[in-house]
Amino acid sequence: MQLGQIWIHKGLEEIYVKKTKISFIDGKNGKLYYRGYRIEDLVKYSNYEEVAYLLIFGELPTRRKYEKWINDLSRERKLSYGMKIFLQKIPKWNAPIDVLKSGIVYLGLWDRAASNINMGALYYKIIRILAKAPSIVAAWHRIRQNSEIIDPCPDFNTAQNFLYMLTGEEPDLEIADMFDKILILHAEHGMNASAFSGMVTISTLSDIYSAIISALNTLKGLLHGGATEAILKMFKEIGSPDKVKEYVEKKLARKERILGFGHRVYKTYDPRAKILKEIIGKLTIANEQKALYEIALKVEEVCMNPLCRTRGICPNIDFFSGIACIALGLSEDFAPAIFAVSRLAGWIAHIVEYLQENRLIRPRAYYVGELDKEYTPLNSRQ
Ligand code: ACO
Repeated sequence: MQLGQIWIHKGLEEIYVKKTKISFIDGKNGKLYYRGYRIEDLVKYSNYEEVAYLLIFGELPTRRKYEKWINDLSRERKLSYGMKIFLQKIPKWNAPIDVLKSGIVYLGLWDRAASNINMGALYYKIIRILAKAPSIVAAWHRIRQNSEIIDPCPDFNTAQNFLYMLTGEEPDLEIADMFDKILILHAEHGMNASAFSGMVTISTLSDIYSAIISALNTLKGLLHGGATEAILKMFKEIGSPDKVKEYVEKKLARKERILGFGHRVYKTYDPRAKILKEIIGKLTIANEQKALYEIALKVEEVCMNPLCRTRGICPNIDFFSGIACIALGLSEDFAPAIFAVSRLAGWIAHIVEYLQENRLIRPRAYYVGELDKEYTPLNSRQ
């Protein structure tokens, strides 16, 4: 929108706020790279911990660095007694993403040097946040089930531990591997609303806990990570694959949006959704939870012509990701929290990168109101 000499960039669309080496989204051709590596290769050959290291520190770790990283994460996974009591006192109706946010607040409160944002000091804050976030989310599931919180096992990685802390049973390695790939796919996605929000906070030289909390608050909205939960509700509302056609046609006739479709950057099939579709297919077969997946496939098929082929409005990653929660035995409101747990790596990478060349983020709003109005005392106002 142009106002005189001023351009208003609604939604900051097409505005570049920094140079980055973290990830590249080729929205036209449906490609995604983390630090120059194709997402398909990382999903195939790497694991979440290594990808988190790559995103944050800029290169794949040497064996020595990798082992230190894994050991540091492993040592920090367990929640303190105080944190467990704190979580147990939160009313059970609260959404997992809000509980995760509270857990990060707690971590910040118990870090005397929270405001130190030198890289040396940041390393251990990063480890604490990455290691404890999955434990907080798993603990919340246990608390809601009126069950004991299960401590992590030092032998397991992030994905295996998360599954272990949900049930206390040794995780199925094949399912844990699928979950690991889901974490990789959600780990980073450029200057999206939540990453930007975290960056705005750190640009004021606030602290990393506050920046992550800003990002979490932004992720939960319906037009971002909150869509994962809303999409599950949509699948449940549809009820069965034979009801999909009527549901979608009615929505499109009313010019309503089909959740899980469309993206600000991708104008073709989201490459993450393509990989995730296959993984969720296998996961739902392994866990005998195929009902929602079959509805999802039907929604995709029905929307293919009116949205995807003709307008480039295709499924985004959120379309399939929530189904993983259900397949893992979690309630639907865990979907945004799982998304957040994996996206921590990307948020941290952007926070660290921005701090290298920090500049306070301070855009402007173009004033279109009146000026020099006469003040009317309260008693004289109509
Ligand atoms: N269903 C139907 N039509 C759609 C959809 C959709 N899901 N998404 C966009 N459109 C249409 C709009 O109606 C609009 O049509 P028009 O030009 O005829 O008015 C056109 O596509 C452009 O829409 P915008 O809102 O301008 O596109 P934007 O880039 O802002 O939208 C967004 C991106 C917000 C994700 C949008 O596609 C949407 O609302 N999708 C549904 C919610 C969703 O899936 N959110 C998850 C986002 S992905 C993530 O966070 C990982």
